[in-house]
Amino acid sequence: MRVGVLTGGGDCPGLNAAIRAIVRRGEREYGHEFVGIRHGWRGLVEDEIVPLSVSNTRGILHRGGTILNTSRTNPYKGDGTAVDAVTATLERRGIDALVALGGEDTLGVALRLGEEGVRAVGVPKTIDNDLSGTDVTFGFDTAVQISVDAIDRLHTTAESHDRVMVVEVMGRHAGWIALWSGIAGGADIVLVPERPFDLADVCARLQRRHASGTDFSIVVVSEGATPAEGTMVLQEQALDEFGHVRLGGIGNRLALEIEARTGYETRVTVLGHVVRGGTPTAFDRMLATRLGLEAAGAVHDGDFGKMVALRGNDIVRVPLADAVTELKTVPDAMLDTMKVLLG
Ligand code: F6P
Repeated sequence: MRVGVLTGGGDCPGLNAAIRAIVRRGEREYGHEFVGIRHGWRGLVEDEIVPLSVSNTRGILHRGGTILNTSRTNPYKGDGTAVDAVTATLERRGIDALVALGGEDTLGVALRLGEEGVRAVGVPKTIDNDLSGTDVTFGFDTAVQISVDAIDRLHTTAESHDRVMVVEVMGRHAGWIALWSGIAGGADIVLVPERPFDLADVCARLQRRHASGTDFSIVVVSEGATPAEGTMVLQEQALDEFGHVRLGGIGNRLALEIEARTGYETRVTVLGHVVRGGTPTAFDRMLATRLGLEAAGAVHDGDFGKMVALRGNDIVRVPLADAVTELKTVPDAMLDTMKVLLG
């Protein structure tokens, strides 16, 4: 069987570990032949196919990013000609099955192509951890660890200067990175997209803390966090070439408002893409490897239309539809339970 592998959406630590595991099991255990599709779905639209084998995937386990490159191209956005180009490339290149590594958007394409007869297996990845159907996505643990390391460093300088430090982390629709890194890093306030914040309440919490004798604070904010209606004016945000809002900026806005309203000297650090780059943690390498091995098994079994997933300690296969119908945001009850740890 000739199997194509692609990575779509934002890159994330662990992708290379997963590619390596898919190819090793597929080639060594089942005798499958592999090709790499460059730049996600764009590679099938534009016919960017490269060889992929055990020998050319050596030495990539610990490397961040993706050796196959990635893009946010979605062939279903447009007049339909891109979808025809995808199926034509598969036919011409003799690709019998696909393994698509991605988040909601990439796996949504795999699901729709499946309805048109394309045989695909999905592998979940996103640093945001907002994909349903799996307990955790790889990339998340690395992003949290990098954020916690940064928060630890910001703590000592915040304390030395009696400052408020605002730390903005990625997280478009879900606050998993902010909550996990904020709690593990001992932040005083965590603001997430799931719960619009009231600026007056944020300032009051900081003032209470400072009144009780602590002269510094750490505020962690997801890039996708928004103020409750009418509590703070935000600038309009630009769109990227795929029509997604280009986030980033809430931290700066918040820092200015906090300083103006409380008089506390405030600084901001936007971690941005730093949390998405570089070496994956051991946890992410293992998770990505286990998922990759299972994806190769699913292809061999002809178990298409499935996504491999972590449930508890087990790697299982779930319908692709389970992963893409609803985003996995931080549950209300979890935010309520953790509230006692924050300002
Ligand atoms: O992949 C998810 C993510 O990292 C989000 O947290 C973030 O909003 C987005 O990607 C950034 O995308 P880009 O790399 O295209 O700026």
